[in-house]
Amino acid sequence: TKRILSGVQPTGQLHLGNYLGAVRNWVAEQHHYESFFCVVDLHALTVPQEPAELRQATRRTAALYLASGIDPQVAVVFVQSHVPAHTELTWLFNCLVPTNWLERMIQFKEKATKLGSEVSVGLFDYPILQAADILLYQPHLVPVGEDQRQHLELTRDIARRFNDRFGETLRVPEADIRKEGARVMSLQDGTAKMSKSDPSDLSRINLLDSPDRLREKIKKAKSDPIMGLRFDPERPEATNLLTVYQLLSGLERDAVEKRFAEVGFGKFKPELAELLIEYLRPIRDRYDAIVGETGYLDGILRDGAERASAVASATLGLVREKLGLLPPF
Ligand code: TYM
Repeated sequence: TKRILSGVQPTGQLHLGNYLGAVRNWVAEQHHYESFFCVVDLHALTVPQEPAELRQATRRTAALYLASGIDPQVAVVFVQSHVPAHTELTWLFNCLVPTNWLERMIQFKEKATKLGSEVSVGLFDYPILQAADILLYQPHLVPVGEDQRQHLELTRDIARRFNDRFGETLRVPEADIRKEGARVMSLQDGTAKMSKSDPSDLSRINLLDSPDRLREKIKKAKSDPIMGLRFDPERPEATNLLTVYQLLSGLERDAVEKRFAEVGFGKFKPELAELLIEYLRPIRDRYDAIVGETGYLDGILRDGAERASAVASATLGLVREKLGLLPPF
């Protein structure tokens, strides 16, 4: 069977972009692939984090994978820092990749601009750690949102370079980016991506938002004054909210457009809010049950780290050998 691997950073909590762009697709794919889903805590450390909050966010993120429908009997759910092979392979790749490959990375440039003077070496190296995350598991596919396309290209380049220099060793994986949901936009600005780092919480739907909070956020979401909602590139807010409606309702695009063809945001928004509330309710309930059961999540993460380590060490062993490192005695 084919393999997939993906991950989310434990910062804040999962939002609708993470869910529709990534996690929802993992849930569908876990039954068709041997699956590895990682909470990438070492990636979160590339920008300053409050230690207690990082620890909590790591558990929260893993619990939300499960609450969203990841089945730990089927998929391997683990925390990146529990599998030291990730950092070791990062070093080995560091010595193989020219710095100019990293200087081209759009996300690095954006984050570095935002941070100003304090840019860590880790932030620069971020894409190499991501390549290590992926290539250790020899996956065929990596299900992610649109914003990860360039990191996946780099990962493929690193695998190819390694194979060219040292012989076929690493599988060159494909990005698995869906047409719909791969780029969910901010509620406050239909031209900006929904993001954990947006200072305004009103810009995003968190999976654990209460019904009242969801109603408030949808009510305050940016809209336009045109009657009749359409998927229309000139109307980014309408297009974004209709897309969310489409994905959560399971209706066809045409059916969604027909349904709201004669109304404005005033009629549409309450319907969208109620759909969101009903869709997210079971996720919130399962989340509460998971975190309420002492030791349950710990057991899953312990088991996940063990299963992940077995696969990761095998690849790392091959890489070490090809590079000429003396095996330990
Ligand atoms: P992160 O934590 O920013 O996001 C996790 C996943 O959610 C997707 N995503 C979105 N999809 C649609 N609309 C949005 N507004 C939106 N925002 C985020 C992302 O594309 C991603 O799939 N570098 C990665 C984490 C990572 C990783 C990996 C992913 C580290 N190692 C190995 C895959 C494989 C990141 O920052 O994702």
